[in-house]
Amino acid sequence: MKPEYYIGLMSGTSLDSVDAVLVSFVPEFQLHASLSYPLPATLRQQILTLNHCGPNEIDQLGSLDVALGRLFADAANALLTHSNFLAKQVCAIGSHGQTIRHRPERHFSLQIGDPSCIAEQTGITTVADFRRRDLAAGGQGAPLVPAFHQALFGKPGQDRVVVNLGGMANITLLPGHEDLPVLGYDTGPGNVLMDSWIRQQRGLDYDRDGNWASSGQVQPELLKRMLEHPYFQRKPPKSTGREQFDLPWLQQMLDTLDEAPSPENIQATLLELTAVSLAQAIDQHGLNHPRLFLCGGGSHNRALQNRLQHHLPDTEITSTEALGLAPDWVEAAAFAWFAMRTLNRQTSSLAAVTGAQGNRILGAIYPA
Ligand SMILES: Nc1ncnc2c1ncn2[C@@H]1O[C@H](COP(=O)(O)OP(=O)(O)OP(=O)(O)O)[C@@H](O)[C@H]1O
Ligand SMILES: [Mg+2]
Repeated sequence: MKPEYYIGLMSGTSLDSVDAVLVSFVPEFQLHASLSYPLPATLRQQILTLNHCGPNEIDQLGSLDVALGRLFADAANALLTHSNFLAKQVCAIGSHGQTIRHRPERHFSLQIGDPSCIAEQTGITTVADFRRRDLAAGGQGAPLVPAFHQALFGKPGQDRVVVNLGGMANITLLPGHEDLPVLGYDTGPGNVLMDSWIRQQRGLDYDRDGNWASSGQVQPELLKRMLEHPYFQRKPPKSTGREQFDLPWLQQMLDTLDEAPSPENIQATLLELTAVSLAQAIDQHGLNHPRLFLCGGGSHNRALQNRLQHHLPDTEITSTEALGLAPDWVEAAAFAWFAMRTLNRQTSSLAAVTGAQGNRILGAIYPA
């Protein structure tokens, strides 16, 4: 069978870069090219501004929508140039867009990056706006990746867990027994608090390998207070974002303490928060000696991986590299897969994961 090529574009909560992949799914999954396309600092700042309520939002939203659409198109075109593929060889682009507000409790989630600009500038059919159909069907609109994880990483007879360590952390539970449903949800913050803290304190984008966190000591009282956030106690389906876990929230937690911990001790505690909340979430499902596969940028954080292993001593932890897909490209590949599913009129949400009334065909198609 001749392979059909798809492009996936992903720009996540971390605002680190736009991830672009060129993949095919038949006869089996193959990653042909990948590219991390820089997100200019001015756009990054505009996204952060729109993440929170403020004045003149509609004009800001309109301009940023177009600027991001153009940037995503540039990323797709750069990927084609870099891989010597032509636009006419690609069936479709699946573009997640940039989330600027995720409020499932109010039944909306807003991703921007005008898909019309992408279709216009690339000449490739573009599929986008994947989350809202699931919200319309009563779901959280997130996480969407579990269906892709199931298709690519599921294995009969073996319980597997896929952990995506992006800005937020989300898990997919893939039971080895086919009668059991696939589950998945956001467990809480992934890298977002650690990134924000090191940026504010030291002007760095992120804590490489968790080295700064490793130089500090976990503060039990601070950890305890952070774990009291109602999000951690809530039962799935659930999803979260910067709306709930951001620096103002961290500051509120710090204000409850008698004495402020040192910056590196705070970083150590933020790393521990990600590890503990993940481990607690995974533990409660009583899986049978699951194998755990990490993906997302946080999979490179060695200190975080060590703490996760510490809290899950009986679980073998590796990255999705062991399953044939490097951890940095899983999310972008998922959106290429969603585009293919949508063009084929196939569903790609899992109602058991998002809480929707049923599985749905996701997204809107912007023809080439
Ligand atoms: N070597 C490293 N050590 C520690 N952290 C790293 C390293 N490399 C990447 N990261 C972390 O990974 C983050 C980027 O991860 P990723 O791109 O998966 O997240 P994202 O864009 O928020 O995606 P999504 O929201 O879709 O999951 C960086 O902001 C940083 O925190
Ligand atoms: Mg990213």
